[in-house]
Amino acid sequence: MFKRAAAALAAGAMAVVLSACSSGGAANDGASGGGSDKITIGFAQVGAESGWRTANTKSVQDAAKKAGVTLKFSDAQQKQENQIKAIRSFIQQKVDIIAFSPVVESGWDTVLKEAKAAKIPVILTDRSVDSQDESLYVSFLGSDFVEEGKKAGDWLVKEYAGKSDPVNIVQLEGTTGSAPANDRKSGFADVIKGDPKFKVLASQTGDFTRAKGKEVMQAFLKSQPKIDVLYAHNDDMALGAIQAIEEAGKQPGKDIKIISIDGVKDAFTAMSQGKINVVVECNPLLGDQLMELAKKVKKGESVERRIKTEESVFTQDQAAAALPTRQY
Ligand code: AHR
Repeated sequence: MFKRAAAALAAGAMAVVLSACSSGGAANDGASGGGSDKITIGFAQVGAESGWRTANTKSVQDAAKKAGVTLKFSDAQQKQENQIKAIRSFIQQKVDIIAFSPVVESGWDTVLKEAKAAKIPVILTDRSVDSQDESLYVSFLGSDFVEEGKKAGDWLVKEYAGKSDPVNIVQLEGTTGSAPANDRKSGFADVIKGDPKFKVLASQTGDFTRAKGKEVMQAFLKSQPKIDVLYAHNDDMALGAIQAIEEAGKQPGKDIKIISIDGVKDAFTAMSQGKINVVVECNPLLGDQLMELAKKVKKGESVERRIKTEESVFTQDQAAAALPTRQY
């Protein structure tokens, strides 16, 4: 009786793991690669929390198709435990390469050691882990989030240069414990700490989503009598906050200046309407580079441990011109 129940439970758990993994844009015939030039990548994505993430998923799926790579794609719905299950499932399926964008920075060593023991190389994309053991992954491809936070701070310092009145700032943080939330916060703080007129009055997570960005901004507007600047760790939260600001009868971009990060089309539209003041770019189009990297790793070629994405900063005067060519 107990044995049957345990077997049923185990089968249920396995079904959950396997259903978390679905085929991406590439043909997914279940083959494990293994042949000299055929590659199967297991890709554990964070979720679908933002426009940036949707563009990133599409980029990886399209690139896999173009490169003839079999992609096993899993959406973790912003939950670390789902990503760990997906990685374990990829190990069982003996994929050639595991690639993933870690939801949070900590807590990966155990599962990465399992991948290493199974001799499956791991590539980190977009976000990194805080593991001290560098042998647990072969490369990290993605943005420099500290640099993005610094660029946001640099814009603010220039914008208020020569002024001495206090500048009241509220901050919408990304997912708690994630690399972009940690690094964008510290990069920004490092730049503004040199001038005491900059005061971060409130800082709270909006989990990188529009809905949460709006909700938290509504709370900020109620609790803070005077807000001069909103620093949002991504566009979706900034766009949600814009709704809250407008509903409160204020003008985003004027009454409250807005600094955002990513550079999705909707943010460019808001910028061209004067509602966002500056966007620090974070490029989600990592698919082609990932496929190239995976092929090299499969062949046993040496690869760079850190590959940084090139990114710019866009201000309102550049927004309208840049809008038609934005790809995401
Ligand atoms: O890791 C990149 C961040 O994650 C993007 O800035 C954000 O939009 C996404 O959800």
